[in-house]
Amino acid sequence: MEVQRTILENMKNAELLRLAQSMKIPLVSRTITRTVLIDSIWAKLEEHLEEKESESVSLCSPALKLKNIRKEFGKKVAVKNLDIEVNPGEIVGLVGPNGAGKTTTLRILTGIISATEGQCAVNGHDIVDSPIDAKFRLGYIPEKPTCYPSLKVREYLSFVAKIYKVNRQDAIIRMSYYMDLFNLRQFENNYIGTLSKGNLQRTLIVGILVRSPPFILALDEPIYGLDPRGAWTLKALLRKMRNEGSAILVSTHILEVASGLCDRFVIMNEGDVVGKGTLKELMKENPGATTLEEVFLMLTGGLPE
Ligand SMILES: Nc1ncnc2c1ncn2[C@@H]1O[C@H](COP(=O)(O)OP(=O)(O)O)[C@@H](O)[C@H]1O
Ligand SMILES: [Mg+2]
Repeated sequence: MEVQRTILENMKNAELLRLAQSMKIPLVSRTITRTVLIDSIWAKLEEHLEEKESESVSLCSPALKLKNIRKEFGKKVAVKNLDIEVNPGEIVGLVGPNGAGKTTTLRILTGIISATEGQCAVNGHDIVDSPIDAKFRLGYIPEKPTCYPSLKVREYLSFVAKIYKVNRQDAIIRMSYYMDLFNLRQFENNYIGTLSKGNLQRTLIVGILVRSPPFILALDEPIYGLDPRGAWTLKALLRKMRNEGSAILVSTHILEVASGLCDRFVIMNEGDVVGKGTLKELMKENPGATTLEEVFLMLTGGLPE
């Protein structure tokens, strides 16, 4: 996120004061005007931004690696023969009908459940052997979001910033900016347990954005449940994060979303990978298909008459 002066101008007075305090800007007068306060913060921020440019963090390539994954639930084989790699700077779509194994795959990747066979690494760290290192850069939005119902939205975001060691001034600026962007400002003092599904999803998204990029993201049906404006904002943001070096894996059964957003696709059906590649490659392998939807239908039971 690029810090611009307008972000400061949109902040509430209390936020500006918190920010000035965290930046150790002396407030000489009790009656300092808003403009003077913004000027002083901006001057200090410019120094801070210059320092930051020199410390660039880069991700491993591939940033996400699933190798030969198999998952059984009793007799049910939910995922088999699965290999996925996601590099920094790409959005890969995990596409498949309901029950294909997408959620299971993402839950393995994030360490929530373990695979029956196979390995999985995030930024070069094995999710079973080094879970903390693996999760440090990982941002996960589950299909059915749940999260700390008795924290308020703002408390949750501050908590995230703290555990991911984000410095206080970056945390204040990002929280303010992304809460506005996702229209969460009016809910900042509401308990998470009382939010609608869409607002809970937005809160989790902002919880990731409060951390420091680049990110490795695993998003399970992230657009489903958002209204059109929320969906548009999220898609634009994902593209921007991709362009800035994040590695993004997004599962969806909504092909329009996948087709407009992803650079490559992994198509799953009944636990198996049935197609892989860019849209161009998939169309070449499936002659007659002219869209992702047609490729998908051909690979998952044939084109309807
Ligand atoms: N905890 C579980 N226990 C038993 N079966 C499960 C469990 N989780 C998922 N499954 C089964 O594994 C298959 C894949 O599910 P899932 O990964 O949720 O698919 P998708 O996200 O693509 O819709 C489904 O048949 C589902 O019923
Ligand atoms: Mg699912």
